[in-house]
Amino acid sequence: MTYLDHAATTTVRPEARTAYLEALGRTGNPAAVHAAGREARRLLEEARETVAGLIGCDPAEVVFTSGGTEADNLAVIGTARARRRAGARRVAVSAVEHHAVLDPAHALAAEGFGIDVLPVDGDGRLAPAALDALTRDTAVVSVMWANNETGVVQPLGPVVERAHALGVPVHTDAVQAAGHVPVDFRAVGVDLLSLSGHKVGAPVGIGALIARRDSPLEPLSHGGGQERGVRSGTANVPGAAALAAALAAAVDGVAVEAERQRALRDGILASLESLDGVHPTGTSLPPDQRHPGIAHAVLDGVDADSLLFALDRAGIAASAGSACRAGVHEPSHVALAMGWDPEHARGTLRCSVGWDTTAADVAAFAAAVGDAVGRARRAHRA
Ligand SMILES: Cc1ncc(COP(=O)(O)O)c(C=O)c1O
Repeated sequence: MTYLDHAATTTVRPEARTAYLEALGRTGNPAAVHAAGREARRLLEEARETVAGLIGCDPAEVVFTSGGTEADNLAVIGTARARRRAGARRVAVSAVEHHAVLDPAHALAAEGFGIDVLPVDGDGRLAPAALDALTRDTAVVSVMWANNETGVVQPLGPVVERAHALGVPVHTDAVQAAGHVPVDFRAVGVDLLSLSGHKVGAPVGIGALIARRDSPLEPLSHGGGQERGVRSGTANVPGAAALAAALAAAVDGVAVEAERQRALRDGILASLESLDGVHPTGTSLPPDQRHPGIAHAVLDGVDADSLLFALDRAGIAASAGSACRAGVHEPSHVALAMGWDPEHARGTLRCSVGWDTTAADVAAFAAAVGDAVGRARRAHRA
């Protein structure tokens, strides 16, 4: 099988597997005072320090979670609720956020919050004028680092500048960015940043919210008061150890690996562009505004579901990029926000490469894609 869906979940890295299994072989709750507990605590704190060193924050700012979704929910809902006391009543999110950010923002409407959805341009980047929507009434603004469907990187500098001038905390979902592009929490100046383990080569079930100590944050879960009181629940020590190991492996040599992945991604885009009626996303943007491993295109006269089915039959695992509910892809809200009509927003394709993708995978895709698109187009016309 040719796996080109690394943005959905990537292969567990050997370093992460080793760290995970080692930690799994030890018994001990890191909250316990005995030697076994202290040993678990040591592993947890080592992982915290490693993650902090790699992301550019203090260890005390690392809050381990179950993954990116929990980190995003905690950032958006936890900050909004905490800032309500100061009278802030609105939440701002970019139109192309992952549902793990969009849906909590919309859920806050039930608590009386208004939502400002910040528009993007045809490439999917935040439009500069979008920041005019921020006011002192904004409780939190969330703009992702790199988009999971298109790979387009957002201009976070102007967001931070504008938001901080108004005293508004900034959250960024860096789930797709970390380990693929240089991510430095302190340098970018955001207040909250989400990470997910299984996107960098750790197992599913671990992630982190990097949260400045002075950023207001209300816990969503209540219990033992772990993770400085904002994320109760016994810590996932093997997961944290694996996240630290995977992130270290991903960040080590990221520039060289990004170059390698860029070449693979461009190979995928070249075979797509050789077909009629294919509109690749973001190809005119400079390299630092694109995720190196994500190739995305909008296709004329194609339904993503039949294209993915045809590719799957040819042994290629790819994605539409958009949310899939009950086995059917919805029109991509990202493509719609970029100005595509609903018909085209149903015809998206995302191929994402990872640390173990090879040129043979790209060649297999090139050999299969023409026939798969032809089949999907015939099915669309029928
Ligand atoms: C940008 C982005 N944010 C959040 C998530 C959710 O992360 P997790 O699967 O760890 O809950 C994903 C997963 O696809 C993502 O791509």
